Amino acid sequence: MLSNETIILGIETSCDETAVAVVKDGQIILSNLVSSQEDLHARFGGVVPEIASRRHLEIINPLIDAALEEAEIKLEQVDALAVSYGPGLVGALLVGVSTAKSLAYALKIPLLAVNHLEGHIYANFLFSRENEGQLKEGCKGGVPTHRAGILPAYPSVALVASGGHTDLVWIPQEGDIQLLGQTRDDAAGEAFDKIARALDLGYPGGPVIDNLAGEGNPEAIPLPRAYLDKESRFDFSFSGLKSAVLNYLHTMREKGEQVSLPDLAASFQFAVVEVLVEKTISAVVEKQPASLLLAGGVAANSSLRYLMKQRLVESAPEVFLNCPQPDLCTDNAAMIAAAAFPYFRRGEQSPLDLNAVPNLSL
Ligand code: KG4
Ligand code: ZN
Repeated sequence: MLSNETIILGIETSCDETAVAVVKDGQIILSNLVSSQEDLHARFGGVVPEIASRRHLEIINPLIDAALEEAEIKLEQVDALAVSYGPGLVGALLVGVSTAKSLAYALKIPLLAVNHLEGHIYANFLFSRENEGQLKEGCKGGVPTHRAGILPAYPSVALVASGGHTDLVWIPQEGDIQLLGQTRDDAAGEAFDKIARALDLGYPGGPVIDNLAGEGNPEAIPLPRAYLDKESRFDFSFSGLKSAVLNYLHTMREKGEQVSLPDLAASFQFAVVEVLVEKTISAVVEKQPASLLLAGGVAANSSLRYLMKQRLVESAPEVFLNCPQPDLCTDNAAMIAAAAFPYFRRGEQSPLDLNAVPNLSL
């Protein structure tokens, strides 16, 4: 340990990213390395679980060495091992979990098991070394356009939108995460990936569609939005939208008509984003939080970030909107180390017989 600072080594292997990070005091990123397997899975249009686990196994140890070196931290200086133990692919998760268990045992330091989705939320509390020593406490009222070293204050509403989950949550205070609603079928990211696959745009679909959409007209093709009934106002459903896009493609091909990819990407993206934004803003208006946190890979979406900011300014300008920088929205290990810090501070730790839990929820 460096004087009384807490150094946590985070490990994340739940899907197709092998990630290792070193984080100080749950907030300051000393290193954050992500080895993506996108190239390996792209030609299959999705993640192949066996390939993912094998690659994690090859990469994890060299990546730990590299993360420690970049952080200028020796293994003996690490105070705790944090690892995401679910949700995710079981074989992939097990690589991270067994690596973290072995290191915690060998170093005689606490093992801290982190829910991957809780990790995504904690990306909102991460800062770079430049912000060290000048973090400002939960500023109310304001939408920063860049990371200004401001710690979001609780209570918070958070939208967690990833490849496997779309959850709207209420966090009255740190560590108390209450589910307001979730998707009944496809996750938002999954919808992006499935539409990209149908359009032969490769995997993952989100970033490609985000880019293409920038050149298209979001109102060119009318597509459905599922707002659901009053009782389910915070739940989501994207499967109807997905079918509508697939039907549109099929009809156009049957008629031999040209499909404008940018217009289709923009119209599809707008349909997803509008529902995510409207439901999140309704939750904010109802719950009146101090901050609104965006999390998960889909939170990297440029249109989502733009529209959320615009709607928040119109409907609840006193609420502080925090969007992690795009590379902290997608899978990384710094968020896992950050989420583990409150557990460490409370003196909690996980047993060394920890197992992966592939269907863990929030
Ligand atoms: O959180 P994440 O990195 O991994 C999971 O926990 O699933 O999220 C990955 C998902 C993928 O479905 C990917 O297509 C989507 O996030 N994604 C995006 C963008 N970047 C990544 N979706 C929309 N726009 C983006 N810019
Ligand atoms: Zn994730």
